[in-house]
Amino acid sequence: AAERTLVLVKPDGVRRGLVGEVLRRVESKGYTLVALEMRTADGELLGAHYAEHEGKPFFGPLVEFMASGPVVAVVVEGHRAIEGFRSLAGSTDPTSAAPGTIRGDLGRDWGVAVTQNLVHGSDSPESAAREIGLWFPGLAPAAS
Ligand code: CMP
Repeated sequence: AAERTLVLVKPDGVRRGLVGEVLRRVESKGYTLVALEMRTADGELLGAHYAEHEGKPFFGPLVEFMASGPVVAVVVEGHRAIEGFRSLAGSTDPTSAAPGTIRGDLGRDWGVAVTQNLVHGSDSPESAAREIGLWFPGLAPAAS
């Protein structure tokens, strides 16, 4: 069955003009874009989005970074799209992310407090449903 995942092009990706490149990779892989919006997220949305990281030392700086400019939020659909996008994105640290991935090809460590790694992708069906509900209320969280 097809699955839906929430992808974010983070403020660093938008500032660097990599929105098209990220979407190109998602579409070239064969996934479908089912919803897309550019917006600057507020602390309330980001606090909910990153609820599992609350209390960690990077939580405050992470929310501040994510609110620092517009992000592009995309709902991506396809069979195994959650795992598939995480594979396209590469591992969290862009310095060690494998070449061929979004983070490995396009990201680097800028020596700032928060890991700027260009994109976010939901990590499980439960996270995907929760995150899609936060960013796109009214959209079905799962493919029918
Ligand atoms: P993401 O996969 O979107 O989810 C949590 C984010 O927190 C992660 O990408 C990074 O941007 C950031 N992050 C994760 N670990 C750390 C860390 N140790 N220090 C700073 N930022 C981090």
